[in-house]
Amino acid sequence: METKRTALVTGVSRETGLGFEVARQLSSEGLKVIISARDLKKVVELALILQNEGLDVVPLVLDILDDLSAENAYREIENRFGRLDVLINNAGGFYDQGGTPLTQTFTYTRQAFDTNLFGAWRLVKVFLPLLEKSANGIIVNVSSGAGAFEDPGFGLMATGDTTAYGISKLALNGLTVKLAAELKDRGIKVNAVCPGFTATYPGTEQWGARPVAEGAGGIVWAATLPKDGPTGGFFRDGKPLPW
Ligand SMILES: NC(=O)c1ccc[n+]([C@@H]2O[C@H](COP(=O)([O-])OP(=O)(O)OC[C@H]3O[C@@H](n4cnc5c(N)ncnc54)[C@H](OP(=O)(O)O)[C@@H]3O)[C@@H](O)[C@H]2O)c1
Repeated sequence: METKRTALVTGVSRETGLGFEVARQLSSEGLKVIISARDLKKVVELALILQNEGLDVVPLVLDILDDLSAENAYREIENRFGRLDVLINNAGGFYDQGGTPLTQTFTYTRQAFDTNLFGAWRLVKVFLPLLEKSANGIIVNVSSGAGAFEDPGFGLMATGDTTAYGISKLALNGLTVKLAAELKDRGIKVNAVCPGFTATYPGTEQWGARPVAEGAGGIVWAATLPKDGPTGGFFRDGKPLPW
């Protein structure tokens, strides 16, 4: 059985993405971090970058839409480490700028829900037995202010429409609340985190996106909560975010 606390991060396929930076920060704090992506070549290359910095990072192939892929990932982690302490559902997407409830297609909207909601939900169900072996099991769902009333820039009341993305992240927050209640007595915390508008794609700084290290910080905060930390909340930068 692995002695270090072990975290799994989904959706780590780009060096400028939040998942990569979360992995760097978490492993710098002494955790073993399993980074995963659906493209094995990409995740192996990214793991090598962090391993060359002396960090304890392991690559794993995982497509969050695929039951078999999730079960294979489960077996691999069970065999190698025997336990999982932290699951970070970071994989996501389908940011449909310009999509309104009347113009957005169901095809696109279903894909957004499949990834942003059901992908995270699948992983919780698959990995629960390994999380239950942890003395302090933690699930972090990377959500967005796009699914909240209170975010003036991107939220439900904002002028720019991100319908499929926003409603799927709103649903992810709802799932977080329901899971937290169900898992409270089993010693597992479940929280949703908005990283804030973060410069994970080139050029977004000019629209006010903040450095990736800052956006990742709030995810790392939720991933390293003590045993008696909060559960069922929605946070940004370690502070509750109304939604
Ligand atoms: N950047 C922001 O301003 C911001 C703000 C609020 C919330 N967020 C959230 O933060 C998270 C990370 O976003 P990011 O900005 O860092 O962008 P990103 O690098 O594009 O991250 C999304 C990741 O999800 C992966 N992914 C998508 N479908 C997948 C699947 N079926 N299986 C496994 N991985 C899958 C993508 O991999 P592929 O390369 O294989 O597609 C990619 O690695 C997302 O959940 C996003 O909604 C971001």
